[in-house]
Amino acid sequence: MKKHLVFLALAGVIGCASAADIVGNAKAAENKVSMCIGCHGIPGYKATFPEVYQVPMLGGQSPKYIENALRAYQKGERKHPSMMGIAASLSDQDIADLAAYYSQQK
Ligand code: HEC
Repeated sequence: MKKHLVFLALAGVIGCASAADIVGNAKAAENKVSMCIGCHGIPGYKATFPEVYQVPMLGGQSPKYIENALRAYQKGERKHPSMMGIAASLSDQDIADLAAYYSQQK
């Protein structure tokens, strides 16, 4: 019986958390955005690698939009080398938290 419970708990943590159960927490994102603000969050900022481009604004976007964009980079449907690398390192929870955080920004 005890083993069974442990298995259930593990399964819940590892595999079974479906995207629908994940609630974004803007507070939890505060220590995750450190990897985003280098590029996003500076108004009018242009990065120069691999070519000069305008970094889009995230603040005030709808959470769904941010989530979809990050998943598209994860799946390679959207192609941008730095964003694909970053999105690949994010968990579903990270994405939900970041989406909540940026959508609450003005
Ligand atoms: C190295 C610079 C860089 C970093 C770091 C970075 N981004 Fe980006 N991001 C970009 C650029 C450039 C684009 C536009 C890419 C494109 O045209 O597809 C972009 C696009 C996006 C988009 C799509 C926005 C839109 O309107 O299309 C989202 C969402 C996003 N980034 C989220 C994040 C999050 C969340 C983080 C931190 C976990 C992050 N980015 C870190 C450079 C960066």
